[in-house]
Amino acid sequence: MGFLTSTTHLHITTWVIAIILFFIAAVASKPNKGVHMGLRLMYILIIISGGALFMNYRDGFGMIYDIKVLFGILVIGFMEMILVRKTKGKSTTMFWVLFAIVFFVTLYLGLFNGIPMNFS
Ligand code: HEM
Repeated sequence: MGFLTSTTHLHITTWVIAIILFFIAAVASKPNKGVHMGLRLMYILIIISGGALFMNYRDGFGMIYDIKVLFGILVIGFMEMILVRKTKGKSTTMFWVLFAIVFFVTLYLGLFNGIPMNFS
């Protein structure tokens, strides 16, 4: 499964597409099932690509890797919460705040943690 773990490009591609679809769905005036379905497909691909990186590289890097995965999953969770609550007409403010925080923490943990696959 080298194509999943030889670089992080696939993982990055999947979450960038997911963020774009998420914002399209989030700003749309009415719910768009197709975009939301596409986003859910990207969740699966993010988890597969991130999970493969995790299995391959976690040894020896301690908890930072586990925390990166946890926050990555939280980002997905909050995107889904925001869209579902928006569809139901419920308030999303609190979830936007949580989304923003966990997203930036995830980016930080992914990019600046000194683990081997880092771009930086
Ligand atoms: C939308 C959510 C996510 C975002 C924004 C995100 C972001 C990132 C970023 C920026 C990197 C660094 C790539 C690099 O340095 O080349 C990364 C790496 C990684 N991600 Fe994610 N990720 C997300 C979800 C996930 C999930 C759900 C998992 C696990 C199932 C996961 C597991 C990993 C692993 C194991 C790495 C490798 C860390 C490294 O060696 O730098 N990510 N991710």
